[in-house]
Amino acid sequence: MAKANMAPQTLLGFAALSLLLLILAVEPHQAYRTRSISFGKKIVVGDPSKNGICATSVIANGYKCQELQVITKDGYILSLQRIPEGRGQQGDHSGTKKQPVIVQHGVLVDGMSWFLNTPKQNLPLILADNGFDVWISNTRGTRFSRRHISLDPSKPAFWDWSWDELVSYDLPAIFDFVYTQTGQKVHYIGHSLGSLTALASFSEGNLVSQLNSAALLSPIAYLSHMNTALGDLLAKSFVGEVTMLVGIAEFDPKGIPATNLLKSLCDYPGIDCYDLITAFTGNNCCLNASTVDLFLRNEPQSTSTKNMVHLAQTVRDGVVAKFNYGRSDYNIMQYGDVQPPIYNLSNIPKNLPLFLSYGGQDALADASDVGNLLDSLKFHDVDKLSVQFIKDYAHADYIMGVTAKDVIYNAVSAFFNDHS
Ligand SMILES: *[C@@H]1O[C@H](CO)[C@@H](O)[C@H](O)[C@H]1NC(C)=O
Ligand SMILES: *[C@@H]1O[C@H](CO)[C@@H](O)[C@H](O)[C@H]1NC(C)=O
Repeated sequence: MAKANMAPQTLLGFAALSLLLLILAVEPHQAYRTRSISFGKKIVVGDPSKNGICATSVIANGYKCQELQVITKDGYILSLQRIPEGRGQQGDHSGTKKQPVIVQHGVLVDGMSWFLNTPKQNLPLILADNGFDVWISNTRGTRFSRRHISLDPSKPAFWDWSWDELVSYDLPAIFDFVYTQTGQKVHYIGHSLGSLTALASFSEGNLVSQLNSAALLSPIAYLSHMNTALGDLLAKSFVGEVTMLVGIAEFDPKGIPATNLLKSLCDYPGIDCYDLITAFTGNNCCLNASTVDLFLRNEPQSTSTKNMVHLAQTVRDGVVAKFNYGRSDYNIMQYGDVQPPIYNLSNIPKNLPLFLSYGGQDALADASDVGNLLDSLKFHDVDKLSVQFIKDYAHADYIMGVTAKDVIYNAVSAFFNDHS
């Protein structure tokens, strides 16, 4: 990786993105000031059958659940949970098979983030109760997916990937697995980065042959409007702190460099972390303080620094493109061109049923950036594109909002039923 060649804007974008994701992770509904900036202790996971998502968050609530694993073509061992039916539903008497739904979380969190509200408010359980066969994926590098057939997570080689590899390896492995296991086309739900990776895949014509429809929540694709609030300040003051992160293979948001970065920003004279939260994540309308506490005990999760840099490039460059090595010779070696190839979102098949929901308060999936995304979809078949705008919603409301069932999830279920 060309760390010495990172342009200041990349670092700036990286800083802004890291910060806002970190801040997203520490955003409580109230009493921010009484909470010190420390993340939950790392939860040590031993046997997933005892401590995994199924045991702690699904079976405990009276649902069936299976812990599974999927190996990607590049050797990562991903954990996957299956909730085959709703609570108290006994097998299948209708003669029609349940439709599978893959639920994909965003960056710096894992599949657990869907289970932090009360059971009646959690997306996967709602889908199961609505008659779907639900599959929860966990991206490489997060606590239940920190395994590889030969690489060790303590070594940099384990972390040599960006969201390009989630497009090329993680998503196809999960789709193939669910498609093969169920013999059916799937529905997909992606939040945040889970929407970007899906859109990028679809634009290359991948996954679509195994897909019935996709729902993209807080969709991110274009990110250039995200990075406005503290841009100047970051450029002037924080490039130094950020530089020390670059070259660290694992981006552990609970780790010392990331925590120091956030602390130094909050300690900066005249900077009020309460305002930072508002400036960066948007004002989530509907979070439950107890759920936020639970979130802090479970998240955030690691990703690769290369992934964060790639996201920062997306912010800086205003295009959805593959990872930029920052040097023409490296790019030529990788791609045969001095510039990394773009993912042309206009090439998403026009008859692919897509449901998009975005929030008016979302600072990550900014409404203007979603506007750009919609512009790339302007020739999409009108009866295959459903767009929902929720004025009060911000980024985290989509996974933890106490009203999300009524506002979002039921609409997603209905969309899937209409496109089965
Ligand atoms: C908030 O979470 C707590 C703990 O799970 C729960 O008892 C309470 O009902 C939740 N409040 C709302 C408004 O959902
Ligand atoms: C993307 O694809 C569309 C339609 O296929 C094409 O008109 C457009 O020029 C492409 N954009 C870029 C930047 O290549």
